[in-house]
Amino acid sequence: MIEIKDLHKSFDDNEVLKGVDLVIPKGKTTVVIGRSGCGKSVLLKHIIGIMKPDRGEIFIEGRDIVKMKQKEIYKLRAKFGFLFQGSALFDSLAVDENIGLALKENSNMTLDEIEKVVEEKLELVGLPGAQKMKPADLSGGMKKRVSLARSLATNPEYVLYDEPTTGLDPVMADAIDDLITDLAEKLKVTSIVVTHDIFSVYDVADMVALMHEGKIYFHGTPKELVETKDKIIRNFLYRTDKRL
Ligand SMILES: Nc1ncnc2c1ncn2[C@@H]1O[C@H](COP(=O)(O)OP(=O)(O)O)[C@@H](O)[C@H]1O
Ligand SMILES: [Mg+2]
Repeated sequence: MIEIKDLHKSFDDNEVLKGVDLVIPKGKTTVVIGRSGCGKSVLLKHIIGIMKPDRGEIFIEGRDIVKMKQKEIYKLRAKFGFLFQGSALFDSLAVDENIGLALKENSNMTLDEIEKVVEEKLELVGLPGAQKMKPADLSGGMKKRVSLARSLATNPEYVLYDEPTTGLDPVMADAIDDLITDLAEKLKVTSIVVTHDIFSVYDVADMVALMHEGKIYFHGTPKELVETKDKIIRNFLYRTDKRL
């Protein structure tokens, strides 16, 4: 379980997080939504210790990452897999080399063992046999899958996705959503998906958190979200739906 308490973060006079409280239950998929620029990515970066808050706590399995030393943060980060917006593949490396890179550098596994992991993860993301392809030969959706396979190589307990469907056409976006759901079920991981794609909420979320004005304005199930009469939430859902 991840428990975020009263998290504050400003950049100069831009107050982005103004007291975020959120509990992310283990083994479930939590989707964080909110308009562009509201601080979703900033929140994710705090969870894995890339950013330090001005104030607040983030308990991961009972330990506050905010108070950890860099060495401990690195250790803890091994439990996380992340698919971030900028997490590009190395163009010069084949798919299998991209996926196995972290294992080659940070584990004692043999090349044969690594190839086994690569094979397994490629199957998991629906790209069996793609080992020798180069990133340049892959579509946007396939690249996402390979990036995801790479983040799963270390068998993370938590998987964080930052806008996994952005830039994909609706069919591919749906396929990625299906994959997120599928992985959550198969691997029993705890997933956090940041998105401004409201359809992803209905597709993948066990729980939804809506960020608004630096706080978690709503936290509940997708059903509770659509049934709410709250004006701000209705406005957000309506505006997002209309955009599509
Ligand atoms: N490293 C940074 N330095 C300064 N400002 C930042 C930094 N990262 C994010 N911000 C600002 O924080 C706000 C929230 O950004 P972000 O979390 O990326 O929004 P989004 O909800 O779209 O993911 C934005 O105003 C952005 O400009
Ligand atoms: Mg973002």
